[in-house]
Amino acid sequence: MSIAFYSSDDNPVAALRALQKALPDHEVLDWQQVTKPADVEYAVLWGVPDNFFNRLTAIRAIFSWGAGVDHLLNNSNLPDVPVYRLIDAGMADKIADYVLYGVMGRHRNFNAYARQQTKALWQPLAESSNADYRVGIMGMGVIGSRIATRLTTSGYSVAGWKRTPTESPSIQIYHGHRQLEAFLEQLDTLVCVLPMTEQTRHLVDHRVFDSLPVAAQFINVGRGDHVVESDLLAALDSGHLSHALLDVCAAEPLPAEHQLWHHPRVTITPHIAGPTQEQLSAQQVAEGVQRLSIGGVPEGLVDRSRGY
Ligand code: GLV
Repeated sequence: MSIAFYSSDDNPVAALRALQKALPDHEVLDWQQVTKPADVEYAVLWGVPDNFFNRLTAIRAIFSWGAGVDHLLNNSNLPDVPVYRLIDAGMADKIADYVLYGVMGRHRNFNAYARQQTKALWQPLAESSNADYRVGIMGMGVIGSRIATRLTTSGYSVAGWKRTPTESPSIQIYHGHRQLEAFLEQLDTLVCVLPMTEQTRHLVDHRVFDSLPVAAQFINVGRGDHVVESDLLAALDSGHLSHALLDVCAAEPLPAEHQLWHHPRVTITPHIAGPTQEQLSAQQVAEGVQRLSIGGVPEGLVDRSRGY
């Protein structure tokens, strides 16, 4: 029996090397090398084509090579076996760094100074204290909580929002649609790190942007489909939003002619906020395979009805 790896985005060489090292007693194969699909017991996957699963008749479990599983749950041929997703695996710190960079870019005026430099303009700009700068995080799972810790450690005022109630000793957490407006109306930067589900698709629309104070910033490290992009563009055009830092877009790669590329208030990065860390991820997969072999339940079991 073997373990197959497929990723539409990652270079498979480093991933395969890390997986094989973490699973020395198993045969780990790049999908291209699989000659007997009926022998594949586990698959480690990112972004597989729709017909990928047709020949995997003996598959026992699927591991997502990422924190998100929308790429799997959207596949209409996904077999009825447990799906596990990466929990942190080094991604949370990377994403927290990215968000801190985005918050500081706006709060410390680094974006504005980059524009000033194009005009050779030496002009200090006013800035508030970190404690007076308010950041709100939509999505308070492992990654959202790590972002919150990183920002509070840097002295920022942080609040969270979740769909369901949660207690947090250190951070005020709003929940549900009824508390969304109260959460949004106090923010200087809104960060989206929600899981992608049917309930969160297009949740960030004109009502969300309208509830933010004028000149707020939006950072998206969740998924492009959380956002109604036409509403985002309208909020940027009107100046209601001063800046958007987008690591994810509804269409990836973002088509060259797309307005978001060319908008003066938008910064785009190509879905790099939380790159999969091969060794830590391979370790989590290996622990999962080991637990399965003794009848246990690996970390990161996905609840398909919840969508993550
Ligand atoms: C990246 O977007 C991931 O889901 O890991």
